[in-house]
Amino acid sequence: MREKNTFYITTPIYYPSGHMHIGHTYTTVAADTMARFKKMTGHQVYFLTGTDEHGQKIERSAQEAGIPPQQFVDGIVAQTKQLWDLMNIKYDDFIRTTDERHIQAVQRIFQKLYDQGDIYKDAYEGQYCVPCEAFWTASQLKEGNLCPDCSRPTELVREESYFLRMSKYQDWLIEHIETHPEFIQPPSRAKEMLQNFLKPGLQDLSISRTSFTWGVPVPFDPEHVIYVWIDALSNYITALGYTTENQDLMDTYWPADVQLVGKEITRFHTIYWPIILKALGLPLPKQIFAHGWLLFNEDKMSKSKGNVAYPGPVVKHYGADALRYYLMREMPFGADGNYTNQAMMTRVNSDLANDLGNLLSRTVAMIEKYFDGVIQAPGKYEQVDLDLIALLEALPQKVEEEMNALQFSQALSEIWKVIGASNRYIDLTEPWILGRSEEGKERLRTVLYVLAESLRFIGILIDPVMPSTPEKMFCQLGISDEGIQTWASLDRFGHTPAGQRVMKGEAIFPRIDIKADLPVLEAENEVEHQKSNPKAAEEEKAAKPAVPLIGIEDFQKIQLVTAKVLACEKVKKSDKLLQFRLKVGDEERTVLSGIAEHYEPETLIGRTLVLLANLPPRKIRGIESEGMLLSAASDDESTLRLLFVDEGVGDGAGIA
Ligand code: MSP
Repeated sequence: MREKNTFYITTPIYYPSGHMHIGHTYTTVAADTMARFKKMTGHQVYFLTGTDEHGQKIERSAQEAGIPPQQFVDGIVAQTKQLWDLMNIKYDDFIRTTDERHIQAVQRIFQKLYDQGDIYKDAYEGQYCVPCEAFWTASQLKEGNLCPDCSRPTELVREESYFLRMSKYQDWLIEHIETHPEFIQPPSRAKEMLQNFLKPGLQDLSISRTSFTWGVPVPFDPEHVIYVWIDALSNYITALGYTTENQDLMDTYWPADVQLVGKEITRFHTIYWPIILKALGLPLPKQIFAHGWLLFNEDKMSKSKGNVAYPGPVVKHYGADALRYYLMREMPFGADGNYTNQAMMTRVNSDLANDLGNLLSRTVAMIEKYFDGVIQAPGKYEQVDLDLIALLEALPQKVEEEMNALQFSQALSEIWKVIGASNRYIDLTEPWILGRSEEGKERLRTVLYVLAESLRFIGILIDPVMPSTPEKMFCQLGISDEGIQTWASLDRFGHTPAGQRVMKGEAIFPRIDIKADLPVLEAENEVEHQKSNPKAAEEEKAAKPAVPLIGIEDFQKIQLVTAKVLACEKVKKSDKLLQFRLKVGDEERTVLSGIAEHYEPETLIGRTLVLLANLPPRKIRGIESEGMLLSAASDDESTLRLLFVDEGVGDGAGIA
């Protein structure tokens, strides 16, 4: 029998057609956060993720890469597992639809459904979208037979197919959805499913193909491969050993507590999946939660469209916790939101470097300064202390409520309210003034104790979202006793023992220099994109005009003039810069140019060069440079040559 405190959570299984990007990371981090939270609050958790490796799309990607499909997916799966390790994702099982255990179980499922009459053979004709692996009816297609999901052209496909009897289960499913409002979350998705698909009437579902071979063969008709959705959806139970002799995991964990999906696959998970389960005589998952998309320029990120952000560069520079925090904090779970590196950096600076990082570093620094690093026993609490203590003691329950509703952003917002209140508490109690007198120091013991204890609460509560950070905080706070790092130890304020020694460490989230880092991240993201999808990257490059065309009015904005070199010398302590004194008609200008490795300064005196004269002046190494000298670079940029003007034209002449 199923124990009450188990918790089974799943992510969709991802297509290994290219490297996983921030969108896939989003779902996986959400599942990991939830799994960690449930573990922390005493549940026996099982967290499943994996890859959906069959189908025409993967077959084509492998062909393009010029390798057999199995070799192709093996490579991407290895990358995916590395990425999940990097993101600190602790799954209990990773299922691949090419696993033998899965293939055999899917065949047994198909056979059972066929034997009991839920599957029959017929012919199918329809518009099919290869990238989305979906057939669409005429009323669903966009104008021009475009796929309603991805707007790409669909293909007319006619083939013999096995079908799953869906209509038979329609009324039952409508009733289930209507009587279980928690089943499809957020509720707007339930409405959408009822209105758009269930109430108009379900058509039987085509569940096999003969047009490609990369899939699980129908056991009694090997011309057909089992079409992706039956193959893919069953992963959630084949991973638990369904249809095998050992039913322990099924008995313990099925039905799943929460299945996370992106909103575009809600239909498959709230209509097809329940019907498959019903036909198999299995209970339905308690909840399917459809979250929103991370958008990139208002469009869904897509490996094949090339508008993708990858987690690797972000994690390399700022750590997995910063990205995990941003993903869980930025948008309410269920809604869409834009992803940009700049917004991520801004939030990391404000919430992590400022609010949390400063609270920790100020508290530890003050305990070191005023009490030689030893946390003191608190004295009598005053109202201002009691106010903060009340906030802290109420916090775990608020966080639990939000987490149980998968409102990660709200849960974090509650925690950050208390971080804000703790920072304000410092302003209100003014420790720097208390530290000046003996009497004040008596009071300061209590103030710093309250702050240390507040940080203990915060450290424990952020753990599911940011699993590497609490350890760093506890180390600085000197908390080594694991008993006071647990959810249970949030039962009341005051478990931090007096006498504990703090230890100042490095900033847990150093401030990001956004301006300097943005171009670096962008360049590294481009490298990831090329590695992930060399063909698409090449095509994008070819499609981009190398230089945009401009009108003559654009050129007229540029003031190019001839300039005569009056003096030229190396800039001190710089290998690259030459400082020019130039005569430009009636005026003289100072200009710096990064050309020192290519010319001896004295050879340039008296020569006439081309100057871009209407750039705003810029200070470089304390010298104001008033313009830019034009030069040409060799392909590898190892050689630079200045542009000289032939004799006969003086300085200050316009160039057009
Ligand atoms: N293989 C199917 C799912 C089968 S589940 C039985 C599939 N794979 S996928 O690789 O396309 O991954 C889709 C999932 O990745 C989405 O449902 C969503 O969870 C996640 N995301 C991919 N891109 C995303 C965004 N841009 N934003 C948020 N999540 C996104 O569909």
